[in-house]
Amino acid sequence: MKTALITGVTGQDGSYLAEFLLEKGYDVHGLIRRSSVDYRERIAHLEGKPHFHLHFGHMGDSMSLIKVVNKVRPDEIYNLAAQSHVQVSFDSPEFTADVDATGVLRVLEAVRAAGLEKTCRIYQASTSELYGKVEEVPQNENTPFHPYSPYAVAKLYGFWIVKEYREAYNMFCCSGILFNHESERRGETFVTRKITLAAARIAQGLQDCLYLGNLSSLRDWGYAKDYVECMWLILQNKKPEDFVIATGVQHSVREFAYYAFKHAGIELKFEGEGLNETGTCVAVSGSAPKSLVGKVLVRVSEDFYRPTDVVNLWGDPTKAKKELGWDPAKTSFEQLVKIMVDSDMAKVASEGAAAKVRTNLAEYLEKGVVK
Ligand code: NAP
Ligand code: GDD
Repeated sequence: MKTALITGVTGQDGSYLAEFLLEKGYDVHGLIRRSSVDYRERIAHLEGKPHFHLHFGHMGDSMSLIKVVNKVRPDEIYNLAAQSHVQVSFDSPEFTADVDATGVLRVLEAVRAAGLEKTCRIYQASTSELYGKVEEVPQNENTPFHPYSPYAVAKLYGFWIVKEYREAYNMFCCSGILFNHESERRGETFVTRKITLAAARIAQGLQDCLYLGNLSSLRDWGYAKDYVECMWLILQNKKPEDFVIATGVQHSVREFAYYAFKHAGIELKFEGEGLNETGTCVAVSGSAPKSLVGKVLVRVSEDFYRPTDVVNLWGDPTKAKKELGWDPAKTSFEQLVKIMVDSDMAKVASEGAAAKVRTNLAEYLEKGVVK
């Protein structure tokens, strides 16, 4: 039985990866941090399973990482823990650097301290944000990096330190340069989930309007469940190498909103430009209220613009397809939108009146604190 350690196990990807590895027969260990809220919604269904174990630790605390790695003595480490919100990295750049850059170094050193550098394979959660102010479209493994946020700069350090340890110490450590991947478990302040939740709430009369930032931003969105398989494939490869993981299909935030609302029974028409752009309901279907027709349901707010924004991400997954046999077309964009909207429609319906309270809170958080 192989042993895996996942940092960031409570996150979107960590929870799917834990499920995936348990199904493959791994003994799975997850690193969790002690925070003021003990809430582990995404992995609650795994806790108590015989081959699923949790350990306290923190990416900012070398000793905790050394102790956990030494105790678990993993065959594979998946380093997914990060301050992963790009906008938040402008508000907390130093914390982001500590966790997303130096944190990677701490994991690599913990492996060396435990004497596991010849046996333990390490996956680093790298990102398409490295391409930032893109110098080439679409982006592949040879495209130059141009990070464009404190988050991306921190992740660039992570990418290079992994490469350095691979070359300096012959360690099997690799980066997956993953493009955006989403799911029904996506954090509620990332744009796709913010949209699918709002579409569900508006369709059920629990929210009046959705405020977004740059609607023209382009992303290559895939399904997180498909992407965790690739993390595993990267570590099963003969040689330690870095891979771009993407669908090869690009859409705008506006298009994502259009399809999400449509799936919730609301047809939107976008008009105007920049801060004056609006999405108005022109027709409804299914159970969406007829009273929505003619109302402006999507507006643009400056609050959600970033000091520097990455606007043209489009990945070329040819290498992963050829060398790992990974299928980038397993879940289409339309299927992804459907999965997320269906899930949020059910969630909002089951929350009922509580959803209204959560909507007010979410609106406050989005406008006032979390962008
Ligand atoms: P996520 O949902 O935000 O999860 C982040 C995880 O990191 C959570 O488990 C969080 O724990 C943990 N974490 C944060 N700070 C920590 C610290 N100081 N010590 C220990 N744990 C800490 O992110 P995700 O979407 O699953 O992404 C996983 C990784 O892939 C991240 O490194 C992200 O940067 C990278 N990535 C994501 C995408 C994407 O589109 N999703 C694309 C490319 C790369 P808490 O539950 O305690 O907060
Ligand atoms: N969050 C958010 N909220 N983004 C908005 C909004 C809004 O209201 N309106 C427009 N956007 C735009 C952002 O400006 C950005 O261009 C795009 O939508 C996507 O934003 P996010 O969903 O927050 O994701 P991200 O691309 O910045 O970062 C995610 O993907 C990276 C991979 O490319 C995160 O998961 C990162 O951790 C990951 O590395």
